[in-house]
Amino acid sequence: DWTMDAYREEAVRKIREQVGESKVICALSGGVDSSVTAALLHEAIGEQLTCVFVDHGLLRLNEADEVVAMFRDHMNLSVIHAQEQDLFLGELEGVSDPETKRKIIGKLFIDVFQKYADQIEDATFLAQGTLYPDVIESVSFSGGPSVTIKSHHNVGGLPEKMGLKLVEPLRELFKDEVRALGHELGLPASFIGRHPFPGPGLAIRCPGEITREKLDILRKADAVYIDQIRKHGLYDEIWQAFVAILPVRTVGVMGDGRTYDYACALRAVTSVDGMTADYYPFSHEFLGETATRIINEVKGINRCTYDITSKPPGTIEWE
Ligand code: XMP
Repeated sequence: DWTMDAYREEAVRKIREQVGESKVICALSGGVDSSVTAALLHEAIGEQLTCVFVDHGLLRLNEADEVVAMFRDHMNLSVIHAQEQDLFLGELEGVSDPETKRKIIGKLFIDVFQKYADQIEDATFLAQGTLYPDVIESVSFSGGPSVTIKSHHNVGGLPEKMGLKLVEPLRELFKDEVRALGHELGLPASFIGRHPFPGPGLAIRCPGEITREKLDILRKADAVYIDQIRKHGLYDEIWQAFVAILPVRTVGVMGDGRTYDYACALRAVTSVDGMTADYYPFSHEFLGETATRIINEVKGINRCTYDITSKPPGTIEWE
């Protein structure tokens, strides 16, 4: 639309003015905010931008390849694909506490990003997809909430540590405006409309200890679940949907044999901002069909449950 078109031109002009001939680095996650930031920066300064995509081994099925291919091949951005799965999964071995998982992942993310950023000679700016609500929140909550339920990680503190200046071209926008801008910049609708995905990724959808085996099973089950949701035309009605693999094996029967495999929980919620949420009222037909597909198609899972907890008292993620 015309307002976003005008915003885009103005944003491009401002970025050029701020950055000049300098080089900029950007942590690309594949989420809407970092994707739109990268696309906008690319339009403004082209080759002066390098993106770092950190693959921590906790992404969904084919996600890393899809994100890298889209930005590198389709949009022509310079993207470093940091393959650090072994590092992250190694450090997470034997860890089951949710906050410890977050701390380990958050710290490694910063180390890894810094390692790759250091290879980009004379980078002066770090681009971040900070939105207007983030700006207000950090001001009005400066006293800090008294109870931390979950510590979210971002690259806060990194710019000072690395001696970088910040470029934050989305600072004046709300989420729906960021989506409109992404559309304006030619990002595919499927990308712009994606459900939010947490920084620690599948680590917090694998309650208890994380193993490569569980992650592989989880990725397959999640892909079937999302496929079902898309096929039934429900994806855009839902704020977030995912599978969690439970740290328990249960007995089942398949053909004429006994199975002893993992149980999983399906989660789907509606929400406006993630602060409160209601479970999505799927039909029993949908749930039955989905459970059957997951159990038939995913080796390692023999039982499916549907999580009907709203937030509060639950949280959206299991950890
Ligand atoms: P909860 O589980 O707290 O989630 O109800 C609210 C929203 O935040 C996301 N989430 C995270 N995002 N790092 C993130 O970047 C985190 O550690 C994290 N924990 C939860 C969650 O996916 C939901 O959108």
